[in-house]
Amino acid sequence: IKHLRSAADLDAPTATLILDTAGEMAALAGREVKKLPTLRGRTVVNLFYEDSTRTRISFEAAAKRLSADVINFSAKGSSVSKGESLKDTALTLQAMGADAVVIRHPASGAPHRLAQWVDGSVINAGDGTHEHPTQALLDAYTMRSRLGRLDGLKVAIVGDVLHSRVARSNVLLLTTLGAQITLVGPPTLIPLNVAAALSAELDRGGKPKETKAELDRGGKPKETKAGTKVSYDLDSVLPDMDVVMMLRVQTERMQDSYFPSAREYSRRYGLDLARMRKLPEHAIVMHPGPMNRGMEITPEVADSSRSTIVEQVANGVSARMAVLYLLLGGKA
Ligand code: CP
Repeated sequence: IKHLRSAADLDAPTATLILDTAGEMAALAGREVKKLPTLRGRTVVNLFYEDSTRTRISFEAAAKRLSADVINFSAKGSSVSKGESLKDTALTLQAMGADAVVIRHPASGAPHRLAQWVDGSVINAGDGTHEHPTQALLDAYTMRSRLGRLDGLKVAIVGDVLHSRVARSNVLLLTTLGAQITLVGPPTLIPLNVAAALSAELDRGGKPKETKAELDRGGKPKETKAGTKVSYDLDSVLPDMDVVMMLRVQTERMQDSYFPSAREYSRRYGLDLARMRKLPEHAIVMHPGPMNRGMEITPEVADSSRSTIVEQVANGVSARMAVLYLLLGGKA
């Protein structure tokens, strides 16, 4: 594949190749091989129109470890503030000879548009509420490292599914790799037609699409076409899970009607020590970060031995090295 715009760009063999390659990258780092010559002479542009800590830094680290030249572009302080369009910015990058453009943008679908304007590979580093495929890859890598498999794994994705590009990409990728997903959250943040739309997107091969999240307040939990389950009751789901992935409550994208109060949310959907003890002994707790400590997850859980949150960040560098290596090397 040339671009990574959506987790649905990846079939099972390609996704597995990326995870295996990430494993090789991690093994090399473990043997103190800090730098590989693979992308010497290639240019990777990090084009960030939205704030980021983990994704931006790990893409930069990944590209540098592969010996690529890295250009970091942040919309703040650029000619974007003078009204320059994404297309004109893209053509400028094209003129500078970008071999890959890593883009984070508040508009869903921006990476798909960008791929029409530049010759190099486009990698989606998070577009609006749509997708964040490399987060899903590093999450899948973390699950496989910790639990030894993805096929048949039971994964609960909990919280603000409505606004979560991480949830969308994880559903698409993990379903492709054989995991069973249960989306858990309040009905206003997990309308059934979001789950149905995700399933439809998977069925359609992941062509770009704005997911219209209309509310379905009366819906009963049910299984969608691609096998994604929906539940509004976290306590009943936990004892059966191998993985519980907590999502950040995205208050900046929230309308009042979606979200009763932080206290009520935490009481029903926050992961605290009492809830964590309902998980099977082997189960792990994940969060993509940044966290609202005390809202969707308590500090005791986030810092517990079951938490893979710091490990996920470290694995992000290996997963992104694998993506850059395979896309720019034409091996994926
Ligand atoms: N998980 C994630 O995308 O974090 P950042 O917003 O810090 O990149």
